[in-house]
Parts: sequence; structure tokens; C-alpha cells
Amino acid sequence: MRKLVIAISLLAFAGSAAYADPIKDRQALMKERGKLAGQLSKVVKGEEAFDAAAVLTALQALQANAEKFDAEKLFPAGSDKGDTTAAPKIWEDMSGFKAAGDKFLADVKAAVASPPGDVDALKAQFNTIGGDCGACHQTYRMKKS
Ligand code: HEC
Repeated sequence: MRKLVIAISLLAFAGSAAYADPIKDRQALMKERGKLAGQLSKVVKGEEAFDAAAVLTALQALQANAEKFDAEKLFPAGSDKGDTTAAPKIWEDMSGFKAAGDKFLADVKAAVASPPGDVDALKAQFNTIGGDCGACHQTYRMKKS
């Protein structure tokens, strides 16, 4: 009996690890993205001094974050229900959604490949990158009231 109980609890544990909550996973990814964009935004706004090395580190972290964006895995069918602001449009237009993710990654990669040397260069890149955030949210995310 004891053995059976242990076996069952082990199974339950394995099960929960295998089916991590995709809604939590994608929100954690977006939260990190928001934090990194927030750091860059402070520099763009002049609230923090431009430091080329620190800016590049943030851009590289943003690239690593963007590379983890796997639309199929993070937005599986059925994950439109729950504590999420993901819009139904994602599942109606998965290819458009993926393209928005790809464009974001491409723009971040371009910034990392040619790191900004001053705040004006960063501003231009950040406008493009921030525009990608906004464009995707506009179409594929519901407004939280
Ligand atoms: C390809 C589309 C796409 C791009 C690009 C994108 N997001 Fe998102 N973002 C989403 C979706 C969809 C959600 C809603 C996720 C959910 O609630 O399940 C979201 C949610 C968020 C959230 C809320 C997370 C939470 O805790 O609920 C933040 C913050 C965020 N995004 C920041 C950003 C920033 C900053 C960028 C750009 C640097 C960005 N996103 C780029 C699609 C995108």
C-alpha cells in the first residue's frame, strides 16, 4: 500500500512537470521581455546614461528571449481559456502570429549585429523593436480592462 501511494505521487509529479502550464510559461517570457525593454527605454528617455556595453547586454538578452518564443508550444490549441490576455485571433491566424514573432526576432538580431554606438542609434532601433511589441499586442492580445 505504501509503495503504491509513493508510486502514484511520483506519477503525479512527473505528470505536472511534463505538462507545464503554457500560459504561465509564455507570460513569464513576456515579463522578462518587458523588463529588458524597460531597461532600454530608460536609456532612450535619458533617464539612464547610455552605456554601450550595458545596452548590448540587454539587446543580447532580448535576442535570447525572442529565440525562446515557440508559438506552437507556448500557444497550443485550447490555451485560449484561462488567465490569459491572448486574443482568439492567434488561433485564427497562427501564421500571421508566427510572422509577427519572426519579425520581432529579426529586428532584435539586427540590433545585436550592429550594436548602437550612441543614444540616437539606440533610439532608432528601439522604435522598430518597440513597434513590433505594439503591433503584435494590437492584433493578438486583448486589452486588460
Ligand atoms: C508575436 C507577438 C508578440 C510580440 C512580438 C510581443 N508580445 Fe508581448 N504578448 C503577446 C501575447 C499574445 C501576450 C498575452 C499572453 C497571455 O496572456 O497569455 C503578451 C503579453 C505581454 C505582457 C504581459 C505578460 C503577463 O504577465 O501577462 C508583457 C509585459 C509583454 N507582452 C511585453 C512585451 C514586450 C515589451 C514586447 C517587445 C519587446 C513584446 N511583448 C512583444 C504577444 C507578443
